Amino acid sequence: MEPTATTAPSLPRSIEEIRAEFPILARRVHGEPLAYLDNGATAQKPLAVIETLDRYWREHNANVHRGVHTLSEEATALYEDARLTVASHLGADRREVVFVRNATEALNLVAYSWGRTNLKARDRIVVTEMEHHSNVVPWYQVAREKGADLDWAPIDDEGRLDLDAFGSLLERGPKLVCVAHVSNVLGTINPIAEIARMTHDAGALLVVDGAQAGPKLELDMAELGADFYALTAHKLYGPTGVGALFGRRDLLEEMPPFIGGGSMIRKVSKELITWADLPAKFEGGTPAIGEAIGFGAAVRWVDELGLPAVHAAEADLTSYALERIAEVAGLTVFGPPAGDDRGGIVSFALDGVHAHDVSEILDRHGVAVRAGHHCAQVLMQRLGVPATTRASLAVYNTRDEVDRLVEGLIDTRRVFGL
Ligand SMILES: Cc1ncc(COP(=O)(O)O)c(C=O)c1O
Repeated sequence: MEPTATTAPSLPRSIEEIRAEFPILARRVHGEPLAYLDNGATAQKPLAVIETLDRYWREHNANVHRGVHTLSEEATALYEDARLTVASHLGADRREVVFVRNATEALNLVAYSWGRTNLKARDRIVVTEMEHHSNVVPWYQVAREKGADLDWAPIDDEGRLDLDAFGSLLERGPKLVCVAHVSNVLGTINPIAEIARMTHDAGALLVVDGAQAGPKLELDMAELGADFYALTAHKLYGPTGVGALFGRRDLLEEMPPFIGGGSMIRKVSKELITWADLPAKFEGGTPAIGEAIGFGAAVRWVDELGLPAVHAAEADLTSYALERIAEVAGLTVFGPPAGDDRGGIVSFALDGVHAHDVSEILDRHGVAVRAGHHCAQVLMQRLGVPATTRASLAVYNTRDEVDRLVEGLIDTRRVFGL
């Protein structure tokens, strides 16, 4: 059958209008206009988020779920409203959304609570070669403690998960599969719904690291089929210090608390302590209240833009970036070619120049990128490089900024006499 032509959804505002919502984008660095291409590390914040935080600190600050005074009731209502926003964004129930500090804490929560309870000696956990350390180290730690084993699902030479090899690892009967939705180095978008089907057919649970997917993809937990899904707000145009763990309600109900203290108990006596209902059971201590409210504002902001339109705009800019960057001599780009399974992350190595030197010279041009192993050392070994330089795009980036990246790379080669 002939594929039908579909028009990509477009953003409701012009790129100039969107950029004007980010005050920091007006900055200059080393006398040059800032070209912020380090969104994979953290995204900049729109006025909708900045003003929500400002209003909260000025007008509503109080602890949540504790006082019966007006401010505490307001803070609690705003905090729980943010949870509802995140839950509806994920197509989840509010009890399935636990506020945590970041994606790292979300994944650790699952490892410590579910993992320590359910894993035993010789159980198997599948992780992939493209994982960020956040989705490796907690599994390594719990595997060490329990005598379980990690299996590494390989990637192919274009940076996609090798689904045949993954299928073979599933035949070993793992209890758990841990996969990134979008690779922070390769930009690969993994087919989570298919991975979930394969994982569940093999009788395992699926943990998805959605740190990089959050700002790029529309997420519906039922459609994706993830049992656990980790998000971090600061990459999704929200504040640092807050993220969310989605967990299937039946699983969260069975799991013991992760952190003990205030707010997560129902009753404490000298003999017995019982736990609060979901999600409070997993939110011991005073949470990042203002930040969670800012997270809600960020989610509303991207939802109003429409993630399919954000993704389409980024995909278009990624194709342009891949095309332009190919003009630079001596440059190797990692990850799949432009297409539906490629997010706006472009990692590369420049022959004869260390990634840190590349990013330093780009900084002099006002172009902010990241250099290093990107917390993905197993992937660096697979790619055969110690480090890469990474340009990561967001909805406010422009072709002009990509052109400046390319000019900076040409200048880097000149500086190094290449
Ligand atoms: C794929 C991926 N997973 C997890 C993380 C960890 O996010 P956070 O530091 O906010 O916990 C990152 C951050 O770079 C990431 O890119």
